[in-house]
Amino acid sequence: MKSLENLIIHKPDDWHLHLREGIILKNIVRYTSEYFGRAIVMPNTKDPITSIKKAILYKKEILDAISTDTKFEPLMTIYLTDVTSKDELKKGYEDKVFFAAKLYPANATTNSAYGVKDIKNIYQIFETMESIGMPLLIHGEVTDPQVDIFDREAVFIDRELTPIIKNFPKLKVVLEHITTSFAVDFVQENNIHATITPHHLHINRNAMFFGGLNSDFYCLPVAKREFNRISLIKAATSGNENFFLGTDSAPHMREWKAFCGCAGIFNAPVAIPSYLQVFQEANSLDKFEAFASLNGPKFYNLEPNQEKITLVYDSFKVDDCIEIFDSENVVGKIKTFHAGERLNWRIL
Ligand code: DOR
Ligand code: ZN
Repeated sequence: MKSLENLIIHKPDDWHLHLREGIILKNIVRYTSEYFGRAIVMPNTKDPITSIKKAILYKKEILDAISTDTKFEPLMTIYLTDVTSKDELKKGYEDKVFFAAKLYPANATTNSAYGVKDIKNIYQIFETMESIGMPLLIHGEVTDPQVDIFDREAVFIDRELTPIIKNFPKLKVVLEHITTSFAVDFVQENNIHATITPHHLHINRNAMFFGGLNSDFYCLPVAKREFNRISLIKAATSGNENFFLGTDSAPHMREWKAFCGCAGIFNAPVAIPSYLQVFQEANSLDKFEAFASLNGPKFYNLEPNQEKITLVYDSFKVDDCIEIFDSENVVGKIKTFHAGERLNWRIL
């Protein structure tokens, strides 16, 4: 393949990330803090981040796990429940503890048992958020067992998101990790915003069934049919400001993932090369900076990161796993997205 020129872009941000806590956090945070300027940190820790106090402690734990010479900024979120206090939410936002609020429908995904059981219960919270300009980040899937798992995003858009947008037209909404052509169209037609993960740009639902049931490619929302993936690629590589980077990197210890098939793909170590591969194949490398580094800050009323990074066209083989250390001892492994594959771009 012919050589391509290096790309120099503003440092990207990750607008949707799971860092976990404790040992896992300590071992994995560097994969994000080295390559990204900022990241929105999801609040679905085992004990979810439902208060100002918990968010402050969690942010400290993250910063303590990062080497002091990086300028990485974790942006904290509050986990909405049926009983979230309006005053806590407002104070946390105004004091800049919370950057945004995350809506998990109860039991929609990993650690979402305390999520919202009936979204109508928190319409008053949306009203407050709309009035103070606080962004709402949505895991957009219904949990109704009658609804086919592959339809849960589309049904959520019809049943829940459409009325939210109608009732709160000024609410700043991000539909997270979209997986369908239906969502792409909805986001554009209603001028809301969406994050797109690297894995949903690379895999369709076949990946989960290739060579036997394979939980390595199981995440939520699940990957869908190929035409949806094509639609996501078009959206991400279009430069359209409604779409921006959010890896949804979600580490699970190998033992647990293989055993219980928990949802989540750990892509942080390869996220930028993974996205770049897609942009290169779509002949849209010139649009990568908008998706990775400009569209998100514009939506969140922030400046792009000042720092620049250089992306070099130089292939490398992705390691199978990263090892998780507790002091000197290896206590587990986490499988990386693209394990064993070659990717074309490196970060200098
Ligand atoms: O695949 C996923 N994993 N989707 C989510 O929404 C949550 C995440 C996790 O926390 O593991
Ligand atoms: Zn997530």
